[in-house]
Amino acid sequence: VAPLRIGIAGLGHVGCGLIELVERQDRLRIPGQIEIAGVSARSQSRNRPVDISKYRWFDDAATLAEDPDVDVFVELMGGSDGPAKFAVEEALKAGKPVITANKALIAKHGMALAKLAEEKQVDLLFEAAVAGGIPVVRVLRDSLAGVEIKRVSGILNGTCNFLTTTMLETGRSYDDVLAEAQKLGYAEADPTLDVSGMDAAHKAAILSAIAFSADLDFSKVKVSGVDTVELQDLRLADRLGLRIKLIAEGVLTDDGVVCRVEPMALPVSHPLARIDGSLNTVRIEGDPVGAVTLTGPGAGAGPTASAVMGDVAKMFRPAIRPAFGRAEHHMARPFTEARGDE
Ligand code: HSE
Repeated sequence: VAPLRIGIAGLGHVGCGLIELVERQDRLRIPGQIEIAGVSARSQSRNRPVDISKYRWFDDAATLAEDPDVDVFVELMGGSDGPAKFAVEEALKAGKPVITANKALIAKHGMALAKLAEEKQVDLLFEAAVAGGIPVVRVLRDSLAGVEIKRVSGILNGTCNFLTTTMLETGRSYDDVLAEAQKLGYAEADPTLDVSGMDAAHKAAILSAIAFSADLDFSKVKVSGVDTVELQDLRLADRLGLRIKLIAEGVLTDDGVVCRVEPMALPVSHPLARIDGSLNTVRIEGDPVGAVTLTGPGAGAGPTASAVMGDVAKMFRPAIRPAFGRAEHHMARPFTEARGDE
């Protein structure tokens, strides 16, 4: 099988995380060989945790997207408009599959981009756009296709959850904890998107569009964030047995899909109240499954890059999928008996 040649636009936390994964792909369960055909970013010289000098450099994302050596375009630049949108459109127009982690782009232009991708008969995948390392997009779209979904809700922003949890636990200030979330690679390049609730709203809108086969209209989403929450609010809530969490939800009503994001005070016994740090959680309710809950790392370079890599793996199209996912070139490890010291 010929190697799959990817072009990576955007070399921030997630882009570098993806390069690290490609470089150790032998340890992963990828159905074939992945090569990096080229990379682009705003700055070539910035200090990065990976050596990008071995990859072909492009000054411009759209040129990378159109390059004949690129089979799949991976967009990790961010921004709902401008160069990211342009490059994604150029890739799709050129008949190339696109993988993106860009929730702002998908929330705002997802319907038009999906139409373009369908016209060109290519994939547009965005697992990493929602809830970082939690495979919720594919679960909703594929695994739960046999479920009539009524509600999707949860905690969809790691930065906000980290903020409210850490402020209460440590008594540190909002600004101090937000700076740490930025350093840890949880926050967006512009953290106002996180704290205003906008990032969670993008994700809730994307999940709702999939869950309810709805025509995504981001202008109808009601959004408020944690930017007005202070340490004293968290402490007062704590004394009352409550935890303040930024909750996102999409509900199917008779009039259409209602989607909203707002901080809520939940009793400490509530399952969502116990989701701490940068974790995300998504609860999917529907008939006849009842409720399915997925919890995991919702932000950060590694988890988000792993979701991108999962989409890259999906680009290989074997005639059949090995039942246990193990392609011929994967190392076959033996089972061994438990000794008790594992
Ligand atoms: N800024 C986002 C968050 C990153 O904090 O959840 C993952 O989309």
